[in-house]
Amino acid sequence: MLTLLSPELEDYAFRHTRPEPRELAELEARTYASMQDPQMLTGRVEGRFLKLLARMLRPKLVVEVGTFTGYSALSMAEALEDGARLITCDIDPDAAEVARAAFAASPHGKKVELRLGPAIDTLRALTEPVDLSFIDADKTGYDAYYEELVQRTRSGGVIVLDNMLQSGRVLAPSTDASRAIHALNEKLARDERVENVLLAIRDGVQLVVKR
Ligand SMILES: C[S@@+](CC[C@H](N)C(=O)[O-])C[C@H]1O[C@@H](n2cnc3c(N)ncnc32)[C@H](O)[C@@H]1O
Repeated sequence: MLTLLSPELEDYAFRHTRPEPRELAELEARTYASMQDPQMLTGRVEGRFLKLLARMLRPKLVVEVGTFTGYSALSMAEALEDGARLITCDIDPDAAEVARAAFAASPHGKKVELRLGPAIDTLRALTEPVDLSFIDADKTGYDAYYEELVQRTRSGGVIVLDNMLQSGRVLAPSTDASRAIHALNEKLARDERVENVLLAIRDGVQLVVKR
């Protein structure tokens, strides 16, 4: 992934963000040592951003689309209060195995439920109102995931969408992924059901609040 900031400023933001707990630093190192495409993991700055959002919102139910090895799920779980839970899903059994081990080893893992299978099935099966969600999976699926989540999100709840600048490709979309994300950015900026801001954190993060 191309970074939007210069490497020096990315590093500055990293060094001036509160470090993640050791278990997450170790999970990141394990992911880089053992997985393909380890750069998919959100990492410190975005992980701490998600944790602080969860801390501010005090959600009862968090939903994540795209677990990978569990870094972002555990980042949010860290802020969850007693009785709150996080449902996360992925289609990759190898990544899910790493994530399950990380959840089992974490003091916050018992708040997390991992569902293996297509995200759309997990979202359609949700029956309770959602307070916070994080969409971070196949880009051409984002619009469908957003639609499922926006109707289940309570008023004042938040939907976060990752990779919304597509390393700059949204300016001249030429791939299925960048076309899908550009179309969704256009929709979000006009969607009467929500208010939004597109933040230039990492690869672009849409912060969407349900009216
Ligand atoms: C960018 S990674 C997620 C990174 C993770 N949120 C983190 O911070 O470590 C995207 C994940 O989405 C998963 N994925 C792709 N298509 C999916 C689908 N249709 N349903 C569920 N998960 C999917 C991939 O297997 C991959 O693990």
